[in-house]
Amino acid sequence: MELEKLVRKNILNLKPYTSARDKYQDGILLDANENSLGSVIESDVKDLNRYPDPHQKQLRKTLSEYLKIDMLKLIFGVGSDQIIDLVIRVFCEPGVSNVIIPQPTYGVFKVACDINNIEVKECKLDSNFDIDMDSVSKLVNNQTKMIFLCSPNNPTGNLFDKQKIKSMAETFDGIIFIDEAYIEFSENNSFLSELGALKNVIISRTFSKAWGLAGVRCGYCIADKFIINLLFKVKDPYSISRPTADLIVAALNNSEKMNEFVFQILNEKERLISELKKLDFVLKIYPSDANFVLVKMKNANEIFNYLNQKSIRVRIRKDDERIADCLRITAGNTEQNDLLIKTLEELK
Ligand SMILES: Cc1ncc(COP(=O)(O)O)c(C=O)c1O
Repeated sequence: MELEKLVRKNILNLKPYTSARDKYQDGILLDANENSLGSVIESDVKDLNRYPDPHQKQLRKTLSEYLKIDMLKLIFGVGSDQIIDLVIRVFCEPGVSNVIIPQPTYGVFKVACDINNIEVKECKLDSNFDIDMDSVSKLVNNQTKMIFLCSPNNPTGNLFDKQKIKSMAETFDGIIFIDEAYIEFSENNSFLSELGALKNVIISRTFSKAWGLAGVRCGYCIADKFIINLLFKVKDPYSISRPTADLIVAALNNSEKMNEFVFQILNEKERLISELKKLDFVLKIYPSDANFVLVKMKNANEIFNYLNQKSIRVRIRKDDERIADCLRITAGNTEQNDLLIKTLEELK
């Protein structure tokens, strides 16, 4: 796989912006027009008056120790949504390239392509919401640059078959993007162990789910060093703020708490599933490897409106006929789940 030929020419040749903090982060810093007196607020975060490290060194080192992966294979983004956009901009030529998105899946893939004027070719996931290899391969042509996968998939909750992803990566002459936003809820099933041999696979992850840091806006990407270097060339120099970096380093140093959360959430999810099964208007609960469940209901739309009136927010996706009669329900805490079940029982 010759990665270089997949990259947009202008990005390959891009001379990236050299920021003041690229080279120097210590000494008498009179090179970035910062405020040399300090910042207007007191904070535990050090050096708020200074731009953050564009190379994300401390963050990458901490994550590399946590994941046991070379730090040169890591980059952080403002949420994994930013990673999606960066990868599209590196590989896809506006108005020329196309990408394949098996549906239903995470809506941002398509929107990010639409924003970048990249044609989206859609096919259906199979009846188990796994990858339908034939329908994907039928869509591939010589302008196809990326295939977007999400495992565990949002909104269906299932993991994709690793063997299928592997054989797709081995045969597809482009980039396979795997969004693993929910992987901590299904840790042993990450595609990460396969990454070394498959240079055209990019994995994105987030601190917004299992780590409980959606408000911080931070995600990361694991890929071949060559790809990571290109993403560094394209990203805003100071995308990850000092407060964000401090919070994420603290989170990574407190990963036992994340494991506890995962354990509790998975227990709550199982309890939720067994209670939902008792309701006669629940037709099917799809297998879930994430922190939510997709539930097929007799009258999903009415139930959605009813729950909304009770200020209980769940998600309905009307844009895909196979899940239009389903609600996607996040496993809440014990109290929230009790209330949800009680409210649904009152409908019986
Ligand atoms: C599959 C998937 N990827 C990414 C995200 C967003 O991640 P972030 O908050 O890191 O941008 C979500 C959020 O719902 C998601 O479901």
